[in-house]
Amino acid sequence: MDKNFKRTLVTTALPYANGPVHIGHLAGVYVPADIYVRYLRAKGQEVMFIGGSDEHGVPITIKAKDEGVTPQDIVDRYHNIIKKSFEELGISFDIYSRTTSETHHETAADFFRKLYDKGEFVEKTSMQLYDEKAGQFLADRYVTGTCPHCGNERAYGDQCEACGTSLNATDLKNPKSAITGNVPVLRETKHWYLPLDKWEPKLRQWILEEHKEWKPNVYGQCKSWLDMGLQPRAVSRDLDWGIPVPVEGAEGKVLYVWFDAPIGYISNTKELLPDQWEKWWKDPETRMLHFIGKDNIVFHCIVFPAMLMAEGSYNLPDNVPANEFLNLEDDKISTSRNWAVWLHEYLEELPGKQDVLRYVLTANAPETKDNNFTWKDFQARNNSELVAILGNFVNRAMVLTHKYFDGKVPACGELHEIDKCVIDEIKESIQALEADMERFHFRDALKSAMNIARAGNKYLADTEPWKLAKTDMPRVQTILNLSLQICANLAIAFEPFLPFMSADLRAQLHMGQLPWQKLGSFDLLPENSDIDSPHLLFEKIEDSVVETQVNKLKEAKKANELKAWQPQPVAPTVDFPTFEKLDIRVGTVLECVKVPKADKLLQFRIDDGMGGRTIVSGIAKYYKPEDLVGTQVCFIANFAPRKLKGVESQGMILSAEQPDGSLKLITPLAPAAPGSKVG
Ligand code: MF3
Ligand code: ZN
Repeated sequence: MDKNFKRTLVTTALPYANGPVHIGHLAGVYVPADIYVRYLRAKGQEVMFIGGSDEHGVPITIKAKDEGVTPQDIVDRYHNIIKKSFEELGISFDIYSRTTSETHHETAADFFRKLYDKGEFVEKTSMQLYDEKAGQFLADRYVTGTCPHCGNERAYGDQCEACGTSLNATDLKNPKSAITGNVPVLRETKHWYLPLDKWEPKLRQWILEEHKEWKPNVYGQCKSWLDMGLQPRAVSRDLDWGIPVPVEGAEGKVLYVWFDAPIGYISNTKELLPDQWEKWWKDPETRMLHFIGKDNIVFHCIVFPAMLMAEGSYNLPDNVPANEFLNLEDDKISTSRNWAVWLHEYLEELPGKQDVLRYVLTANAPETKDNNFTWKDFQARNNSELVAILGNFVNRAMVLTHKYFDGKVPACGELHEIDKCVIDEIKESIQALEADMERFHFRDALKSAMNIARAGNKYLADTEPWKLAKTDMPRVQTILNLSLQICANLAIAFEPFLPFMSADLRAQLHMGQLPWQKLGSFDLLPENSDIDSPHLLFEKIEDSVVETQVNKLKEAKKANELKAWQPQPVAPTVDFPTFEKLDIRVGTVLECVKVPKADKLLQFRIDDGMGGRTIVSGIAKYYKPEDLVGTQVCFIANFAPRKLKGVESQGMILSAEQPDGSLKLITPLAPAAPGSKVG
């Protein structure tokens, strides 16, 4: 860290309280931030870790309306779920508050008022869609209509989900209010805009010249925004959920959620430290870091800094280590499609496995590009890394200590070449670990931490103390002393990543929480001190556990397909004579068997009232042949005969294709004469 800084303020994007958090949020924002904060704390640095829920915005009001509850009910529900699940995962916020708090409403309103009084806003009127029946302006999301690009009739005013185009509500054809179904009208409305164009030269200088060290993905996105040229941005909305715009003549208007939410970082610091918050925000010796996902870059690197510049008394962020996105099983994580691993469900369904998730999400973190989470990889990393490398090494060192030295740390004798080698190797890993931590490269840092355990494993395998026990006990003492010192180093090195494992290991080794600076020392456990009888740090994860999770995802996908299903469009009109060309009849199933070597086909013998016929039908996946004997079906009697797997099929049996692709046979409601005509 730059020596000019005395303390670090770390913020994490405030998650919207309209749903629980999922592994994408964790991998992108909360796990890396927590790793960094724990690292700074271990180094004894002054650090403040600020989080909270983002509880305003249109999606919350829509969800409330859908469920017939108030927006406050929605945010109460999800704020509590989110807060509790973060706690259980060990995300060590100094405060996790919310933007509906009184402190926040006051702070955000004051902030707006200060900018307003300084003349930092421009007022503009524009035409916006208004629902006369509901008596309110319509947020883009509250308008549906036909997409001007692809013709999808269910496009939303902000986006068409069929073709992915971003829209303005006024672009939609045949717009309808989602509240009343009424056709909205255009009405004039006044809003306050922050003239980002005014701050553009300063932002260019500050980011493009003074912060070339920002991650390439962040720097690049900022550069492309700046190169496109900045426009004034509205900071108010016509909505009844949010922080009222604190000026006269603003009835029915609230602060835009992206104006109030980042101020939440300030409010939450204030709530935690009513008397000292200013030093965290205004003292130039404080450095500020925003941990966010890539969709938040423009707000944290351009809009919020412009707000802070306009206000004039605040620090700007020193770095914004934004991550890319995490996919799940090769598909984009989506709250609305329920394609996610939800943290609160994970904690319930895989109890005690917080560190496994933290490990896998860090090892796979989308630091430089989008990345993918699969349950198979989750299992493999647990079994072949946490269990087989880290857990195994610690366990071997402790078991051997119990076997030969009654659970007491043996004395360290003179070091041999191989001992010095492993020490050097570990010191190198520690150096790499620290360098990567400082650069927010947590994936690589984790690899280096793991290399310490790898080195330990190899050391035991090479020195084979169990063989020396018969001949050279002093040597065994040294090897196990050193192995236990490596365990103690692991407890320190892994604390930021795997705090639960680290606490467990420290307890087993009877060691306190040592500062980071002790890393690389090999006298951390005093000679003759006791260690516990070991228990395993990690358990193997069985196939059945991940299969359950994969099946759960498959169910979610199915449910979604069902929700999204629509009947096929109706085919072009035909007249009666055309219809009559098809000769549809009822028949009774006399025999039904599977067609050999064809997993889809059933062979029917049908009583068609005319001496019987054979028909082959592709419904074997959905019916058992023996269940069909005696039932009645409808079939096309004049369908041209064709051979299927060597059997001649004399007709076609009718069935209806379901949303999931399965087939349902069509049968008369009451017994009908075989051979009777359907028309
Ligand atoms: N709620 C936003 C999101 O999930 C993040 C808000 S970050 C803050 O994308 F800075 F505005 F708080
Ligand atoms: Zn479209």
